[in-house]
Amino acid sequence: METAKENKIANKPNKLHYQGASAQAIQYHYDLSNEFYQLWLDTTCSYSCALWEDAETLEEAQIKKLDYHITQAGAQEAQHVLDIGCGWGSILKRLVNQYHVKQAVGLTLSQAQQDWIATWNHPQIDVRLEGWAEHQPEIPYDAIISIGAFEHFANTKLSSAEKVDAYRNFFNRCHEWLKPGGRISLQTIIYENAGEEDVNSFLSQEIFPDSALPRLAEIVQAAERIFEIDILRNDREYYVRTLRAWLKNLRANRAEAIQLVGEKQVAAYEKYFGIAMIGFHSGNLNLSRISLKRIDAPRFNKH
Ligand SMILES: C[S@@+](CC[C@H](N)C(=O)[O-])C[C@H]1O[C@@H](n2cnc3c(N)ncnc32)[C@H](O)[C@@H]1O
Repeated sequence: METAKENKIANKPNKLHYQGASAQAIQYHYDLSNEFYQLWLDTTCSYSCALWEDAETLEEAQIKKLDYHITQAGAQEAQHVLDIGCGWGSILKRLVNQYHVKQAVGLTLSQAQQDWIATWNHPQIDVRLEGWAEHQPEIPYDAIISIGAFEHFANTKLSSAEKVDAYRNFFNRCHEWLKPGGRISLQTIIYENAGEEDVNSFLSQEIFPDSALPRLAEIVQAAERIFEIDILRNDREYYVRTLRAWLKNLRANRAEAIQLVGEKQVAAYEKYFGIAMIGFHSGNLNLSRISLKRIDAPRFNKH
């Protein structure tokens, strides 16, 4: 049996240069108002594309999505699971309450999200105001999940080669943190029939500043020979349906939303949902769900 000491991950100083969106840019978006987001998200407060297979309501579809990632990551009944970009904690809660996970660790760069989850005072949930690049776990994880955060892991100034480098740093970290045989379940928006040159300036400046979307090839290249890709799904039409549900909820609660964040912000979110719906429907954007398995003995020096 491994002792806690043998199990401990070497606490190496963090030398990598993080190249994703800044904490300030993340807080600009996610710290707008927890109450505002609650008005149009489902009751789990999931802020990412749902999984509408055999689901009628947004909440059912979000729970399907959470369960899909938990299963793909092999996180059921695990000891120690990491959620990178945990939002308002939907999967952390599900892991410990429904899947008997002993400890769920969530990382977010949003102060408002950390405050929100901290109010639960759940002894098995550890939420940290910390980017993945600063994270230094004491013991290895059984599974890693990351939903809707990878979109922020490269900033807009990077070339494609630099993006691959930034993503490679991320996958190297996940490789170090996972136990042998460990898995990542990753969900991210990607460019498909579009690229940086087609970026909608309203979205990139007013809604998600400092964040550049990945291309599938960049993700694949970055993970190559340290993770094998098991399953890849493209669920872009499910994002159209998710956005439509968010828009409907926002419109149904418009007066209250205006009281919370003002008319200009509400109109900006309506516009953002509309543009994103067109992006996914046209295939300019795709929604990738990627199941990755750790390659335990990479046949080269992975750094
Ligand atoms: C769209 S939200 C998704 C939240 C949640 N996974 C969900 O599906 O509801 C993106 C999340 O990524 C987090 N994030 C962005 N950049 C990050 C980074 N470098 N490290 C950790 N989390 C990050 C944000 O703070 C936010 O919680």
